[in-house]
Amino acid sequence: MRVPVRASLQEIEEYKPGKLVKGAIKLSSNENPLGPSPEVIREIVKCLEAGELNLNVYPWEKNEEELRDEISRYVGGGSAKDNVVLGAGVDGVLDTLARIFIANGDEALIPIPTFSLYESLVKIAGGVPRYVKRKSGEDFSIPVKDLISACNKKTKLIFISSPNNPTGNCIPEDEIREIIESVDSRAMVVIDEAYAEFAGSSLVNLVTEYENVAVMRTFSKAFGLAGLRVGYGIIPEWLTSAYKKVAMPFSVNSIAIKAAIAALRDPAYLRKTVELVKHERAFLMENLRRVFKKVYPSEANFVLADISPAKSAVVCAELMKRGIIVRDCSSFRGAGDSFIRVTVGTREQNELVAEALI
Ligand SMILES: Cc1ncc(COP(=O)(O)O)c(C=O)c1O
Repeated sequence: MRVPVRASLQEIEEYKPGKLVKGAIKLSSNENPLGPSPEVIREIVKCLEAGELNLNVYPWEKNEEELRDEISRYVGGGSAKDNVVLGAGVDGVLDTLARIFIANGDEALIPIPTFSLYESLVKIAGGVPRYVKRKSGEDFSIPVKDLISACNKKTKLIFISSPNNPTGNCIPEDEIREIIESVDSRAMVVIDEAYAEFAGSSLVNLVTEYENVAVMRTFSKAFGLAGLRVGYGIIPEWLTSAYKKVAMPFSVNSIAIKAAIAALRDPAYLRKTVELVKHERAFLMENLRRVFKKVYPSEANFVLADISPAKSAVVCAELMKRGIIVRDCSSFRGAGDSFIRVTVGTREQNELVAEALI
């Protein structure tokens, strides 16, 4: 006899990551085509060889503190190391926040289409996601008034991805302020800035200004460390004790901590990555615009295209036959079946995807 799993799991979809096929060009998960800084690799190897990274012991608190300190200086915006919490990717930080705020029957507001993990985490925690449709057909901006009026006594979290995955747009500062001030102490506004480095702007300064704002950032995208799983949150100080209670102990491993510190100490490499992505993003958009009805402006390292009347499943399958993997957006709630998302790659990769699409 099998022990029944929680009934509510029936409503949760498995997370579908971008596909990985050996030898194919993978432009489906918004990773960094340059990889991490060579300084990061050198540092990890050096520390391992010198016995500074003892893999038989749990991650050292002092190293974690050093990373939090470096992060607070990097993000600025008035934050201090006590505002910084770490997790196994932004995913890990979001999971902890969902478990802090969502009790059975609580609600979370999610403007869609967006990163699908938000709704899963809310459901897993026993909560109910409420969706607010972004202004599709226009620029996918958030209908702020609708969002605010959807906020009720049960609403505990509001997830705003900025730049938003998969649409690529940021929320303007005046709009996020309106949301934060309207929901005040009722709901925590979680701003997911996984792609902030490519946008060149951040809302992190709002964390020290308001008590109901948390900003998520990651080493997976601009720093090219997705495989190490290290992300962080900038959160108000009053929330850190709850965070420490709920987060898994040692969720960021020793190698990831060292790597993240080394990555922050190589700002020239970060600049190079961001410049390449911005340059190539323009090239990719220009080429996609030759083929598709609408290609949306993007502040991230990916581009969204409306490929109607074609169907995303068909186009993605055709590209796959040619060894190129892009994201079929039909798995994003509210996106429909005619959008694809293409990660900005190297010039060679972008040329290949453009040729294949043409
Ligand atoms: C908006 C958004 N947030 C978070 C993540 C996950 O980031 P991490 O690798 O830090 O868990 C992604 C990954 O694609 C994303 O698109």
